[in-house]
Amino acid sequence: MTRGIETVGVESSVRTTQPVPSIDEAVGLARALHAALSEVLLGTPAAVTTAVIAALSGSHLLIEDVPGVGKTVLARALATALGVKLSRVQGHPDLLPSDITGVTVFSPETGTWEFRPGPVFAHVVLLDEMNRTPPRTQSALLEAMEEQQVTVDGESWPLPQPHLVIGTQNPIGQLGTYPLVESQLDRFGLSTSIGYPDADIETRLVLHNGGRYALDMLVPVSDPAQWHRAISATASVHVVTTVAEYAVSLVRATRSAGTVRLGASPRAAISLLRSAQAYAVLAGRAYVTPQDVQAVAVACLSHRLIAEGSGGDGPTMVGRILAAAPVPPT
Ligand SMILES: Nc1ncnc2c1ncn2[C@@H]1O[C@H](COP(=O)(O)OP(=O)(O)O)[C@@H](O)[C@H]1O
Ligand SMILES: [Mg+2]
Repeated sequence: MTRGIETVGVESSVRTTQPVPSIDEAVGLARALHAALSEVLLGTPAAVTTAVIAALSGSHLLIEDVPGVGKTVLARALATALGVKLSRVQGHPDLLPSDITGVTVFSPETGTWEFRPGPVFAHVVLLDEMNRTPPRTQSALLEAMEEQQVTVDGESWPLPQPHLVIGTQNPIGQLGTYPLVESQLDRFGLSTSIGYPDADIETRLVLHNGGRYALDMLVPVSDPAQWHRAISATASVHVVTTVAEYAVSLVRATRSAGTVRLGASPRAAISLLRSAQAYAVLAGRAYVTPQDVQAVAVACLSHRLIAEGSGGDGPTMVGRILAAAPVPPT
């Protein structure tokens, strides 16, 4: 399985003093983004949709899969389509926190200390093979992912907005790796895997140098300002109270399920609703249905749950919870 009336306002992580931008513009961007990614990534519609949901909801994305299935190409395609440069960091055991955040250096010319921003200072940051990076360096990313700022030598620096971290990790071959801790996993709004393509698609990939040709041809469908507006518009999509209660009931069910040792946090509940809003935008709607929540539940919740005994993997646990929860009428 490849694994995104009375209303409640859902607050955006992006602060804007502008009036809320139009949903139509966000719908147009979502569809153009989806089409662009589908040109490059073949046979992986769920991963493509999850990446679009991450971009629209302003959520960080975790891609867990074996090598060579298109993780890096997906990250490159997303950055290119969004009209920004991808900042890539290769995880390895010697990577230091300052290799990500940046350093303060003494400038002999000016006689002052100056901050040299690290690769995290970009709109889209790819941290490849995150679990090869020691915990100290992984946690340097926590502040950046949650607070949208970086503190070095007691001084804080804001990150460019929007800011999207794409982390990848290979679930196989754990030798010499440092599995991401729960608090780190919880910072990722969504997770996905890509999976092996079927034989027809793989033949097409072989004949067309994978997605590389298509990636070289890709033209941006957005820029940071337009992307920023789309995130604000997505956060303003209507959520009726019964749908919010439904999302909360799913998250609460993860905490009491006998097969789950660690359930999902309130941060996960917020993320679930934001992702459902993005799913609604992709479907061309300005309101969220319970089906939108169901569509993004596996991508939002799986990576945050820890099974009790033989409780199964994340998607299995979330699937069981979805099947058992009463769905509100629409
Ligand atoms: N589903 C796919 N669609 C497009 N290209 C793919 C796909 N799977 C693999 N590839 C191609 O395989 C090669 C390796 O992809 P890459 O993104 O570097 O893998 P990973 O980061 O998962 O190790 C690239 O040339 C890429 O285009
Ligand atoms: Mg890669």
